Amino acid sequence: MKFFVDTAEIDAIAELNDLGMVDGVTTNPSLIKKSGRDIIEVTKEICDLVDGPVSAEVTATDAETMIAEGRKLVEIAENIAVKVPLTWDGLKACKTLTDDGHMVNVTLCFSANQALLAAKAGASFISPFIGRLDDINLDGMELIEDIRTIYDNFGFETEILAASIRSVNHILDSARIGADVITAPPAVIKAMVNHPLTDKGLDAFLADIKAADIKIL
Ligand code: E4P
Repeated sequence: MKFFVDTAEIDAIAELNDLGMVDGVTTNPSLIKKSGRDIIEVTKEICDLVDGPVSAEVTATDAETMIAEGRKLVEIAENIAVKVPLTWDGLKACKTLTDDGHMVNVTLCFSANQALLAAKAGASFISPFIGRLDDINLDGMELIEDIRTIYDNFGFETEILAASIRSVNHILDSARIGADVITAPPAVIKAMVNHPLTDKGLDAFLADIKAADIKIL
């Protein structure tokens, strides 16, 4: 499973990238706003740092302008994936931009039918939003399962990019189901290392190291 980082914070991306844990990056207008940076400038910096796909989202809602924005975004770097919303116009933009040979990430997906349309329009990635479904008492993981089944039934090559991840359990469940990619905030990826028994075990070892004065260097 590929790990994308859901942020526009350069330092956070660099820290995970140095550990080989970054297969790509996703941004959105809210993350760009949070970074306080110019979209083109910060996206270029991310692309210089990371080899895998970097999603940059269009700002328009009509297909024609989305396509024009997408064509400008792909000039930033070869690894740009243009992010378009799952609307009818977004699907039109997806089709045109994929026909041009660009990667397209169709975002704001909340149903399996939407995911089916995105695959038909040639999307490279579909981004179902798990956390936002959970927020309204629906089951985000059930959506990932449905999309996996449908894509496998027909051999669609669109990659399932599990998004709006809020917890380590979202990542574990996405891995169990077979999502191709997860995108998560750096803090959630880092939280995967935590286990109370690891902390407890290490404390006991440290106590014995001190008691026995064990030295290696
Ligand atoms: C990723 O592509 C999405 O923009 C992101 O995961 C949304 O997450 P949120 O629902 O926590 O804002």
